[in-house]
Amino acid sequence: MSRIKNLEDYSVAYRESVEDPSKFWGNVAEEFTWKKKWDQVLDWNFEDYYCKWFIGGKLNITENCIDRHLETKADQAAIIWQPNDPHEAPITFTYADVHREVCKMANVLKSYGVKKGDRVCLYMQMVPELAFSVLACARIGAIHSVIFAGFSSHALASRIEDANAKMVITADTAYRGAKQIPLKEVVDESLNACPSVETCLVLKRTGEEIYMKEGRDVWLHEALEQVSTENEAEVMDSEDPLFILYTSGSTGKPKGVVHTTGGYMVYTKYTFENVFQYDEGDTYWCTADIGWITGHSYIVYGPLLAGGTTLMFEGIPTWPDAGRFWKIISKFKVNQFYTAPTAIRALMAQGLENVDIHDLSSLKVLGTVGEPINSEAWQWYYEHIGKRKCPIVDTWWQTETGGMMISPIAGVTPTKPTYATLPLPGIQPALLDSEGKEIDGRGVEGNLCIKHPWPSILRTTWGDHERCKFTYFSTYKGYYFTGDGCRRDEDGYYRILGRVDDVINVSGHRLGTAEIENAINLYSAVIESAVVGYPHEIKGQGTYAYVICDPVAIEEYSMEELKKGISSMVVKEIGPIARPDKIQIVRGLPKTRSGKIMRRILRKVAEGDTSNLGDTSTLLDPSIVESIKEGAIS
Ligand code: PRX
Repeated sequence: MSRIKNLEDYSVAYRESVEDPSKFWGNVAEEFTWKKKWDQVLDWNFEDYYCKWFIGGKLNITENCIDRHLETKADQAAIIWQPNDPHEAPITFTYADVHREVCKMANVLKSYGVKKGDRVCLYMQMVPELAFSVLACARIGAIHSVIFAGFSSHALASRIEDANAKMVITADTAYRGAKQIPLKEVVDESLNACPSVETCLVLKRTGEEIYMKEGRDVWLHEALEQVSTENEAEVMDSEDPLFILYTSGSTGKPKGVVHTTGGYMVYTKYTFENVFQYDEGDTYWCTADIGWITGHSYIVYGPLLAGGTTLMFEGIPTWPDAGRFWKIISKFKVNQFYTAPTAIRALMAQGLENVDIHDLSSLKVLGTVGEPINSEAWQWYYEHIGKRKCPIVDTWWQTETGGMMISPIAGVTPTKPTYATLPLPGIQPALLDSEGKEIDGRGVEGNLCIKHPWPSILRTTWGDHERCKFTYFSTYKGYYFTGDGCRRDEDGYYRILGRVDDVINVSGHRLGTAEIENAINLYSAVIESAVVGYPHEIKGQGTYAYVICDPVAIEEYSMEELKKGISSMVVKEIGPIARPDKIQIVRGLPKTRSGKIMRRILRKVAEGDTSNLGDTSTLLDPSIVESIKEGAIS
């Protein structure tokens, strides 16, 4: 096992991974089950982007996640599922159970004509069937595209359409805290616009009455009764696509990030085991949703590849009370706990009475992901959850990177609050200035790039390779550009400073400002809008929308009505996660003579810092700034 146990191991592994990446990753890959070994470890080019790992290798990732553990771990818990309602009994699925369920689901997919290379969209809450569906797709070589079940029907339709999916898997409705979310209804709305979908499989989760379209909609439990419990895994090439995951960028339309099979498998297991120092018998819990990359890599694939026990939670942290996470940790004796800073901040605000009544002594490692963690939240997590004995791994990575990139290795790398610390083996970060020159040395800041591929780097964006090249490989020639600003301190430690592009991070959710503007502009009363982020105590960043409305609409409706309409439009187009926190109706936007919006000014106003707005002399109409300042929402 390529396990790092101390700083010396880390230094050796890091050095070897840089000196001879092919040898290093070739050695790590030996630990897996391949149907045919690769001929060459790596071929790549960042200037005219392509990247291939374990070329010529044949495998099936689900044999590595499940079958290879059956001999020794058939009766060991693979997935523990905690339902939304604390009174509903949890279910434990052993490796033998997961094998059976995944084989059955794979056979159902096949019986409805899904073949290798077809796309299947999954729009479900956090139920075991979601994990089984993901793995069933991988088993038969279909490409899964999981869409977070909080997205609206419009957002869902555009993703189904872009992937040209043949099948959608969903549930009747979803429990979410005290609420129920009508998943199937949302799917029905979106499928009107998606002729490629032949079948919609529906899980009966709540038993709520729903519409079933004849010839298209099929109850999953009925389909599962018809099939065998054995399924022979499809032979896949290392570079066959495993999944598409849509993510927001600085342009309006979300991109389908494509990950392939061999490299993703090798990297997610390696990072899971090392970063969390996962040991046999540990119970690991990541609170993310499988609709995001964290759930893909570190709820499903990484932990199962490692033969671990992974907990899945259907509910939310604040229902029935703010002690829910801590109660679950104590109930299942969770050893590694991985969550987002936004959840920590929200629970921190609830005080300690919900924490101190639970026994958290099983915890060994705490993790965070998704956004920068502020010092106060880090200290609270360390002191009150980890009781000063659990290292915190602040893991920096992205949908595109597939796995963790810069992160402490638990108990190995000395931590420093707010720092993601050091690059993991195989990761070669570089800080670049605006001219594209590498900034060497320590105590410096720049745009974070990576100069050598790692096994789980994205391979393309679905259906548009040019967009992939342009977005990630054109800003700095020869480098992968992350979109993040970063500081390297005197110790060589990395601290992520946040996005340098028009992407905002709201409660750990990545949103493109252009995407929100497009949604706002669809509202009939709107002429133009500009969206920026501003610091938010709990969410990390909040959304501030400046909107110009049609004078006729302003006459006709109250400000409150207009704002409500704008807000509803964003929820309809994207989903509740993108709902603006603040909407200011303005008479104009600060534009330069060439028509470019000076977002710098809008950001300053949104931050509540109007004392020094910098040079405004190039603005077409400087008086606009005064009126925006006057109407600013604090
Ligand atoms: O800005 C960084 C932030 O989240 C972005 C990636 O978002 P997404 O693709 O949705 O993936 C999130 C889960 C991996 C990054 O560009 N980010 C992620 N982790 C951290 C972070 N910012 C600071 N510290 C982190 N640990």
